[in-house]
Amino acid sequence: MVEKFISKNEKQTEELGLRRAEGLKADTVIALIGDLGSGKTALTKAIAKGLGIEQQVTSPTFTIIQEYSGGRLPLYHFDVYRLEDEEDMYELGYEEYFYGDGVCVIEWADQIKGLLPKNTIYINIYYGSHENERIYTIEY
Ligand SMILES: Nc1ncnc2c1ncn2[C@@H]1O[C@H](COP(=O)(O)OP(=O)(O)OP(=O)(O)O)[C@@H](O)[C@H]1O
Ligand SMILES: [Mg+2]
Repeated sequence: MVEKFISKNEKQTEELGLRRAEGLKADTVIALIGDLGSGKTALTKAIAKGLGIEQQVTSPTFTIIQEYSGGRLPLYHFDVYRLEDEEDMYELGYEEYFYGDGVCVIEWADQIKGLLPKNTIYINIYYGSHENERIYTIEY
């Protein structure tokens, strides 16, 4: 199934994330694919908020994975932009996260395509025709 969502501003992106967070179950992998500054972290922040995580979600340059607890489910936030090789994911013990007790959200997930589980939810993000417009397509 493919859903398309047009976000006209950051607030609408937040609403999308909050809504998507509601039905999330443990063992869910969400693959975010979109250009620099398209809104991957923005959506991740909203998903975290929707899970009831109060901690601030950040995107430090050299941290591949950040864990957030305190919500309905743990959130494992990956940013694999700087990963040199898919193989490096094994060193991080990625399987423990992907097939674990929480929700994984992965920025630049197209870099580790071969490792993504079958039931991954793919969210592609595109720039729209206005400065603050973003198009999110959700495929699952
Ligand atoms: N409708 C919108 N939804 C989300 N973000 C928006 C929207 N309109 C404008 N923005 C802006 O776009 C930027 C999105 O930044 P964000 O860090 O989420 O992107 P990113 O895809 O994670 O980038 P990176 O590839 O660097 O990790 C923010 O500066 C935000 O203010
Ligand atoms: Mg980001």
